[in-house]
This record gives sequence, structure tokens and C-alpha cells, in this order.
Amino acid sequence: MNRLDWSSRPGRPLRGSVQVPGDKSVSHRALMLAAIAEGDSHIRGFLEGEDTRATAAVLAQLGVRIETPAAGERRVHGVGLHGLQGTAQPLDCGNAGTGMRLLTGLLAGQAFDSTLVGDASLSKRPMRRVTDPLSQMGARIDTQDGLPPLRVHGGQALRGIRYELPVASAQVKSALLLAGLYADGETEVIEPHPTRDYTERMLAAFGWPIRFEAGRARLDGGHVLHATNVDVPADFSSAAFFLVAASIVPDSELRLPSVGLNPRRTGLLHALRLMGADITVERERESGGEPVADLIVRHAPLHGIELPSALVPDMIDELPVLFIAAAAAQGRTVIRGAAELRVKESDRIASMAAGLHALGAAIEETPDGALIDGGRFQAGSVQTHLDHRIAMSFAVAGLVAQGPVHINDCSHVATSFPGFMELANGCGFALLAV
Ligand code: S3P
Repeated sequence: MNRLDWSSRPGRPLRGSVQVPGDKSVSHRALMLAAIAEGDSHIRGFLEGEDTRATAAVLAQLGVRIETPAAGERRVHGVGLHGLQGTAQPLDCGNAGTGMRLLTGLLAGQAFDSTLVGDASLSKRPMRRVTDPLSQMGARIDTQDGLPPLRVHGGQALRGIRYELPVASAQVKSALLLAGLYADGETEVIEPHPTRDYTERMLAAFGWPIRFEAGRARLDGGHVLHATNVDVPADFSSAAFFLVAASIVPDSELRLPSVGLNPRRTGLLHALRLMGADITVERERESGGEPVADLIVRHAPLHGIELPSALVPDMIDELPVLFIAAAAAQGRTVIRGAAELRVKESDRIASMAAGLHALGAAIEETPDGALIDGGRFQAGSVQTHLDHRIAMSFAVAGLVAQGPVHINDCSHVATSFPGFMELANGCGFALLAV
């Protein structure tokens, strides 16, 4: 991937309507379930990001025909539960933890062997959280000391287990449920805190009998998935950058249409409102089985809060940009219970603390969070650590800095948010590729 730096500086008040791209979590799952369904599924609102395209490419390598009738659309010709074909070539998940972890569950139930690889960031991310419980189900998976590449041995007879997740993780839960499709008996997953339930909802939409409630999901192997059409909502995690940006830039008012508001994703909305943000929800409706609405955000003075740690799992991907909101707010914000941030695309606590320090902000890192004292940002140079959300968070910081914020290596933004720069500049950011 070619290196790309950005410079972000104060622009004008943020105004207009910003249509953010499709949800990453939903796009990954739609591809995978459509691939092993009977019949053809049409996906609309598909995220044209590098992560989700990597998953599409892997499924194509496994013999699934996927057409692109238009940008943001995929027609997937399902091959049925047992129709995937093995390949000796490595399956490259790129930067995508979701892609790799879910595919591991899916591939554990196949008759053939597979090798899953990823980029430099993904190659450092822990995989035992997936391979340990899958092994309990009878899977055989080799790791490199718990890290990718993963060698998934096929032809294993899987059996359902009851598994209590040690950490709240939708990726792990989903991997086990996908393996459970191929297992004998019941697979039950219990979470310490409910996480996003897209896999459960989508399995039901594809006709698989599944019983689920907040924090618990159960299914039996041996049924059939029936092709269906999926409408992917706009990604709340991408909208998050604009929610914070318009909150902290005076005179701003932005509309974000058709954003997915799955309750397991909207912790940032509650946190920002606790900080004094002015965000209204309009045109609430359901699309493709998911709640969606337009969000209107207006500038408002923010103040620091003790972030309720119960909100953390519902805003796990939005915490980097919350660090920016906190550093631009009045007073102290305390974030606890967020140790999972250390094993995301980068160590997000360390990445945000280092970047905020470079901009002269007052932040103290703790093992599972940070203490942030709001103030002003100076000009400075920050590192993304190849993490898309760190890059976009500092693009937001630049809007209220006293001089340009230089952001080193934003090439990974395209993994989740292709076109971020154009959309951002269209509503008032002053973001330059340098
Ligand atoms: C995801 C789950 C989350 C999130 C990731 C996407 C998913 O990770 O951070 O970006 O699609 O299942 P966890 O597995 O930690 O919940």
C-alpha cells in the first residue's frame, strides 16, 4: 500500500448532508452468508472498502461467483453450505480482523485445508480467542504463537459447545456461530456483555433457526441458508467522525442520512449527549431488519465526563474519536474498562495518547483507558500506526487545532471509509494530501 500523509487544519463551519458508506460489519456478514446460501442474494449499500473487498476476494477464491452490478452492490451466487472449494493459495484478509476471525469459523467446518494471512497490522492481532474455542468444537487450526497466518485443517467433525466468552467480542461470537452451522448438536455462546448481533439477525434473515437475546445465542447445525437480499445501513462508526467534528466546530450543522442505529453500536451517541452534544434522531425506521435514522448534529460546548464503562462495548470502534471530543471539551474525561482497544488495528490507547501528546493535549494513559483534560490542540505531527480510525480521528482534531496537524500514513483509511477525504472536505474540513 502506498504511503499517504494528510494535513488537517481548521476549515469553515461544517454544513450540509454527509452520506457515509455502508456498514463494514454488515457487509462482511452479508457476503459470507450469501456465499454459503442456496440461491442468489443481492446486497445493496455494500461497503466498497478494502476490508470487505478482501473478504469478497477470499470467497471468490473459494469458488463463489460474486458480481458487481454497480458500485455498492454485489450479486452473490450462493454455493450452499457444502459448496465451497478449497485452494492451495493463501487467503488474504488484508487488514480485516472481522474477515479473518469470521472466515476462520466458517472454514473450520469445511472438508478442505485453508491458510489465512493478513497485512502487518492483522498479523499482530490475537487469534487464540477464536482458535481455542473452535478447537473445543473439534477444529484443528495452527497459529504462529497465537498470531496469523492461520492454517485451518479441513475434514474435522465439529460438535456444538456451550462457550462463555472471556471478553465481549462479536467477532469471536460470530466465528463460533458460523462453525456451529457445520457442527453436530447445539452451539451456544454467552457473552459477558452483549455485542453487536448482526450475525444472529442475518442468520435468521437467511432462514436459519437461531435463538438469541442480548448476551446469548444458540443454534443447531444441519439446516439450510436461503438466499435473500440485504440492504446495508450506513456505518455508524464512519458517521462517528462527523458527529464529533460538528460537535466541536462552532456554527456547524450536519445531517447524516440513513445511519444504522443498532443499539449495540450507538454508545458514542449516548456518551456525546452526556458531554452536552446536540444530536437529534429523525426519520427513524427499519431497513433490512436494522433500525436506521437520519442524525442531525449541531455544534455544542462539550464538557468532560466519567464515561460509564457499560457503554464501552457499544462504542468500541468509536473510542478513538471520543478521545478527540474529550481533549476538545471543558474539564476531565475518564475512560475505563477499554483494554480491548489495545488489540485493535493498533494499540488504540497508546496511539491516541501519543498523538494527543504530540498536539500538546493533557492525556494520561492507563492500562484500560485514559484520563483526558480538555484544552486546545497545537500544530504537530502524529502517527496513525497504520490504523484507519486513528487517522480519521486526528483529521477531526485538526479542525480545532491552532496550526496544521500532519498525519503520517493515512493509506489504511480506505479499509473502512473510502472517499473520507472528499466527503470531509465537501462539508467544510480542510484536509490535504501531502
Ligand atoms: C466487529 C466487532 C468488533 C469491532 C470490529 C468489527 C464485527 O470487534 O471492533 O471493528 O464486525 O464483529 P470485537 O470482536 O472486539 O467485538
